[in-house]
This record gives sequence, structure tokens and C-alpha cells, in this order.
Amino acid sequence: MSNILVLHGPNLNALGRREPSIYGNMNLSDINHRLSAMAAKRKASLKFVQSNHEGVLLDALHENADWADGVLINPAAFTHYSYALRDGITAVSLPAVEVHLSNIHARESFRHQSVLAAVCVGQISGFGWRSYTLGLQALLQHLSS
Ligand code: DQA
Repeated sequence: MSNILVLHGPNLNALGRREPSIYGNMNLSDINHRLSAMAAKRKASLKFVQSNHEGVLLDALHENADWADGVLINPAAFTHYSYALRDGITAVSLPAVEVHLSNIHARESFRHQSVLAAVCVGQISGFGWRSYTLGLQALLQHLSS
């Protein structure tokens, strides 16, 4: 049984109506349901936090440091500049997988860099909502290996 903290960064609350040609038509609660269905089959327990505020995401990391075995995170725009979230991941010493709906490497140059990727187990980018399920699968396999 693994406990996974799922963190969604800024503007992901608007999924479904936010630039659907880039991010798809699925809203955040649809994505969370898909993740929950996958977790139920794999006997994993998920806790979801979405916030538009960096500090709220950081607090969620620290508050769940003892509960969680791993972190699945779409840091959204914080990907590209949040040293605080990067330090938060190393501070809690939890394996994290970074996911992105879009392929950040095929977009504007400011999105090509992730300041978090180096402290994550790995990054999955460009598969739409499936980046999340692929990320969860990768994280659970990492935890059980
Ligand atoms: C994103 C990519 C980021 O560059 C962007 O700021 C987001 C979403 C993605 O899932 O593709 O908000 O993380």
C-alpha cells in the first residue's frame, strides 16, 4: 500500500476550458478520477491538492511528508522558476515524478527548463491527461522496485 500526494500547480483548476488545443478537454476532477481508478486497482491511496499559490503547495508537501511515500506533481508554471518547490521536494526526501500535459520541450523556450526535474525521479511530458496516469504508474513501480 503506497500513499501518494498528487500536487497540481497554478491554473490547472481551469483545465477543460483553458487552452484546450494545448491542454485537452478533460477537467481536473476527470483527471483525478482516472488517477483514483488506477490507484484503487493498485492498492494505492491518493491525496489531491491543487493550488494557485506556491506556499500552499509547499505546505502540502511538508504536512504530508510523514504520510506520503511519493509525490506526483504537475508544478505548472512553477516548473520553470520555483526554487522553493525544488527545495521542498529535497527537504521532504520523497521520490517525486514530474508530469506535464503538454510537451514543454516543444513549446516556448522559457518552458524548456524545469528547475524541479533534477530532483525528481523523472519527468513525463506531452501525453495529455495520460501523462498523469503514466506518471502514477512510473512512481508506483519505482516505489515497489
Ligand atoms: C504545464 C506546462 C507549463 O509550462 C504550464 O505553465 C502549465 C501546464 C503542462 O501540464 O503542460 O501550466 O505544466
